[in-house]
Amino acid sequence: MNIVIVRWILSLGAIATLAVYLLLTFTSPNTHISSAVQDQSRSLNQSTIALVTPIPPVQLTPDEISIAKLGMQLFLDPNLSSNGRVSCESCHHIFSNGAEDIKVSKGVKGNGVRNSPTVFNIAHNSRFFWDGRASSLESQMDGPVHNPLEMNTNWQKISDYVASVSDYKVKFTKYFDGKINEANIKASLKSFMVALDTPDAPFDLYLDGNKSALPAAAQNGWKKFQDLGCIICHQGTNVGGNLFQKFGNVNSTGEQEKDLGRYNVTGVESDKGVFRVPSLRNVANTAPYFHDGRAQTLESAIVTMARVQLGRDLDATTILELTAFLNALTAPPPPILEELLP
Ligand code: HEC
Ligand code: HEC
Repeated sequence: MNIVIVRWILSLGAIATLAVYLLLTFTSPNTHISSAVQDQSRSLNQSTIALVTPIPPVQLTPDEISIAKLGMQLFLDPNLSSNGRVSCESCHHIFSNGAEDIKVSKGVKGNGVRNSPTVFNIAHNSRFFWDGRASSLESQMDGPVHNPLEMNTNWQKISDYVASVSDYKVKFTKYFDGKINEANIKASLKSFMVALDTPDAPFDLYLDGNKSALPAAAQNGWKKFQDLGCIICHQGTNVGGNLFQKFGNVNSTGEQEKDLGRYNVTGVESDKGVFRVPSLRNVANTAPYFHDGRAQTLESAIVTMARVQLGRDLDATTILELTAFLNALTAPPPPILEELLP
């Protein structure tokens, strides 16, 4: 082919690429967000983006209820840990907020480094842990089980223990053909955890069409949550839980950060300080805030977010309204707990 024509075709290609690039850059709503973060956002399932949808009601069959009950029994059992003193529930208080009220968790060997996230509504997160290192609940569970600072054990020891308890043996015979192993213990714990949804927050009732369910201040807060851009990061059914973003996206947090977040998982320079965006469901009940529990109050977490993520200083009314909105994400406790109690 004539070299001039080839050059012409190549430069047309370059112009087209540039045009698409410019279009994407300037029509993108998240102009504040670094390009690394945008790439991560793009790879997500588009249907989870830019929408906040109500938590659907949980409906379990009688068989599912029985397995979730077994999962709850395991979740509450401290004998799963190496010293017989730490259960999953030690750090995830299912009869209050699914989390803890201390800055960072304490396990078998004392202090951990991260704040315990709630296990409520966990089914609607697509990544788990503050650094998002697990993409399924099955792999997530390896974390606390093996972590020397948490339960400090392994699945073989847990299976041996479970097999030594006749009550568990009866139940595993009934639901898992008597196979007591890592996969089936994980399956029971998972059935329990994914049932811990909290539907019917005032905000969900509002989304479902009951406009009076949301006080005026909270309605203003919801509008500002969108207008300011909180929703760019906190979105989906869980108002978070499905994106990675830098903590200190626009302004530095002003602290010497010890936890490098996602960088510990990927080793990629631009992942330093990147964390999974947490869900804001029931957030008014889960102080302290951030991966290391550094913020004691919801108001201070909101002020920090506006400053470091969006480069904004909020006026007093906006802080009140955003707080009212986040309060409206507080739902009654997981309805399933009533059904699962012995
Ligand atoms: C010693 C306290 C402790 C114990 C015990 C513990 N966890 Fe956790 N859990 C945490 C902390 C802290 C995190 C966050 C860790 C991180 O991000 O690195 C976490 C994270 C999680 C998450 C992910 C939440 C999210 O939104 O990403 C789930 C699910 C979970 N734990 C379930 C369990 C189960 C099941 C058990 C028992 C097998 C358990 N935990 C035992 C403290 C604990
Ligand atoms: C650029 C993305 C981004 C934007 C915009 C953003 N957030 Fe966040 N948000 C995060 C990340 C990431 C974290 C976790 C930071 C950490 O702990 O390392 C977080 C944490 C929080 C927390 C603490 C939750 C908890 O359980 O600890 C609250 C509350 C919060 N954000 C509210 C808001 C509000 C309100 C706005 C708007 C004013 C906002 N966020 C804007 C990414 C964002």
